[in-house]
Formats: sequence, structure tokens, C-alpha cells
Amino acid sequence: MTVSPPAGLEGRHLLGIEPLSVEEILRILDLAEEYVTLNRQAVKRTDTLAGLTQINMFFEASTRTQASFEIAGKRLGADVMNMAMQASSIRKGETLIDTATTLNAMHPDILVVRHPHSGAVNLLAQKVNCAVINAGDGRHEHPTQALLDALTIRREKGRLTRLTVAICGDIAHSRVARSNILLLGKLGNRIRLVGPRTLLPRGFAELGAEIHENMEEGLTGADVVMMLRLQKERMDGAFIPSVREYYHRWGLDAAKLAHAKPDAIVMHPGPMNRGVEIDGDLADDINRSVIREQVEMGVAVRMAVMDLLARRLRAGRAAGETG
Ligand code: NCD
Repeated sequence: MTVSPPAGLEGRHLLGIEPLSVEEILRILDLAEEYVTLNRQAVKRTDTLAGLTQINMFFEASTRTQASFEIAGKRLGADVMNMAMQASSIRKGETLIDTATTLNAMHPDILVVRHPHSGAVNLLAQKVNCAVINAGDGRHEHPTQALLDALTIRREKGRLTRLTVAICGDIAHSRVARSNILLLGKLGNRIRLVGPRTLLPRGFAELGAEIHENMEEGLTGADVVMMLRLQKERMDGAFIPSVREYYHRWGLDAAKLAHAKPDAIVMHPGPMNRGVEIDGDLADDINRSVIREQVEMGVAVRMAVMDLLARRLRAGRAAGETG
């Protein structure tokens, strides 16, 4: 693979979509396409990250994202370690920074970090001299999710611009929504945020998104319908009247989807609450739902990101940077 490293990626990290240029985003997606091909072959192994150590530090429960990063690293030939953060010294009172400096002394090359607090991953990135990838920090950003969503949309729609994308549900607590709004906005798409007033932060309108409280209205003419999980763990008050009422008004089912374009695709980052934000049969409908494809694209996008960061890391080391 002969793609040259992008200029930015925040120096040597991927902390969010915000600092990325359109060119960098497209470079990641183009390289990810090559990894989609590799991942569909019988032998899925390269030695791109051979000799490098990748540590996954998940301070929050995760199934698919952690597995995806682990598979991505292994397919690139890295030595991958998953730190069980729930059982770690953090429990014994160690601070995030102490943990980071301890790990740093073991000379990792890539740290993949998920943390419940917005900004925690950026802070950690300042304390280590390896590449850091944000795998989701609080309500802030989840860049690889937005990149995998973009790759899925581009493959399904044949383009990643001038599309009407409805992002629906719990926008207020969602780092997935934030990263997607930033990415899809940079590429010139029309973004609608749809959900109950209590879950629609005002600030997002300033990012150029349209706000709709009515689902039928928000979905009218949409090319892409992106559903979000109701993030009960981030809610500290009564944001919705009841789960039943929420499903009735904002849960996606075939009747509501009929307002979108006839070829509109349905997306969800997972994990799904079936019967809360999405009808279970619709989620499984392979003619409309691309949820499984999103998972496949996740591995390819993470391979592309780690490949590009490793190139920067090696180039930096060759040039004598210490971090
Ligand atoms: C998302 C996350 O963790 O932000 N999930 C994921 O990464 N697959 C969305 C969510 O938890 O609802």
C-alpha cells in the first residue's frame, strides 16, 4: 500500500474529527477500502505494525469497539494487549496520569483509549510519547466511529456529499453524533438532528444542523437515517417521559422510515436497545439496515488509522523526534 501519511492527524494522534481536513478524512477512507479487500481474503495478515506494541485501555465497558481495535491490530501484525481497566490500579486510587506514565515507561507504540470523561484522552495524549487513538471520551468525540460510518455511507450511496442525513435520538449524550456532525458537515452534507427537545442540545444548531422534534418531519426525504442508543448511563435526570412513549414518538419502525427516501439506509453504532430506539425487525432487515456492514467497516477503518499513525511514528523516530 502506497498511500503517504496525511499531514495532520493532530501530529501523531487521532483525538477527534475536529482537527482533520477533508483530504485527511478521504485518505483514511481510501486506505480503509484496501483493508476491506484484505479482510475478505482467506489470509488477513500483514506485517505493517510488526514489532510495534498496541495497548487498549478501556475505562468504560465496550464490546465491539475493543474487539474491533484488537482484531485490527492483530491483522496488522502488532503485539496487542488489552488492559482490564476495571480491575486495574485505577481502582486502588491511581490517577489517569500515573497510569499513563507507568504504561509509557513500557514503550508502547499505540495506545487506544476509551474514557467516560470528555477530554481525558487528550490529557493523556500529552503525557505519553506514543500515538494515541481516542476510542470515545465522554460526550466529546468518537472519531473512528464517524470514519466507519462515513465509509459505510460512501459505499452504499456512492458519494459522501450532498446527502441528507438524519441523526436521531439521544444527541445530547452522544459522542457518535458529535463526531458524525463534524465529519459529515466538513464534506458538505445536510444534517438534521431529530429527537425530543430534552435530548437536543442547542449548540449543535450552530454547527449548521437543522433541528426537528417531529420524527416524520425530520425523516422526510432523508438518504441516511442514523439511530442512536438512548444512553441511560449518561442521564442524570428524567429526559424522557417513558420508554414506551419514547418508542412511540422517536423509535424507528417501518412506518416512520417510509417518510425517508425509498432507498434510505438505516444505521446504528450499537449496542442497540431493540424496541426502544429501533424496531428489532427493521434493524435485521438486510434491505434497509447496514448495521452489520458498519461493524465490518470498523475493522478496516481502524487498520487504516493505525497504519497511517504508525507511518508517522516511524518517520518521526527516524527524524529523531522524542515525542
Ligand atoms: C457507541 C459509543 O460507545 O459511543 N458505541 C460504539 O462505540 N459502538 C455508542 C453507544 O454506546 O451508544
